[in-house]
Amino acid sequence: MNGDVLDLMSSWVSHFRTPPRHLRVLGMNAAELDANSMADERIVHDLNADPRVPLPDGCVDDAVCCVSVDYLTRPVEVFRDVARVVRPGGRFVCTFSNRLFPTKAIRGWLYATDDDRCRIVAEYFRQSGAYGSATVSRRTPPNHLGDPLFAVWATRP
Ligand SMILES: C[S@@+](CC[C@H](N)C(=O)[O-])C[C@H]1O[C@@H](n2cnc3c(N)ncnc32)[C@H](O)[C@@H]1O
Repeated sequence: MNGDVLDLMSSWVSHFRTPPRHLRVLGMNAAELDANSMADERIVHDLNADPRVPLPDGCVDDAVCCVSVDYLTRPVEVFRDVARVVRPGGRFVCTFSNRLFPTKAIRGWLYATDDDRCRIVAEYFRQSGAYGSATVSRRTPPNHLGDPLFAVWATRP
């Protein structure tokens, strides 16, 4: 991703090998976002209180959400609104592992398997009605010793 990118539910780090041309980060903690040296713009916003992304239509090429989708209590509304701010042909990529904060994740995530979690995120894309079909991908090999990494993404038509 090298264009205008939105990192949703971001903190002090955005996980890009090469910084995008312009990176907006949205999260709940202003101090964390201030410490994100890759960010060009910082937006403090609680997506559970208001699932609308406070940005104009079609202002980013792609959006990402890393290891945080399990905190969303109104995920379908958020996914639909992310599609509004992503330009046609852009992707929304959700990545996650198998770690979680039990007090923060939605209950359904706590008892789900890795495959269930991939299906849950794919279902968020489907129910939003705003994307093409979702792709599910395990990014780490099966014999990987560290945390597994999963990605589910879809493109805005
Ligand atoms: C586990 S951290 C992940 C941070 C970052 N994405 C990363 O990969 O390092 C979860 C992040 O989600 C943000 N977050 C949690 N609930 C949120 C909400 N309702 N709206 C927006 N951001 C939220 C927090 O501020 C926190 O930075």
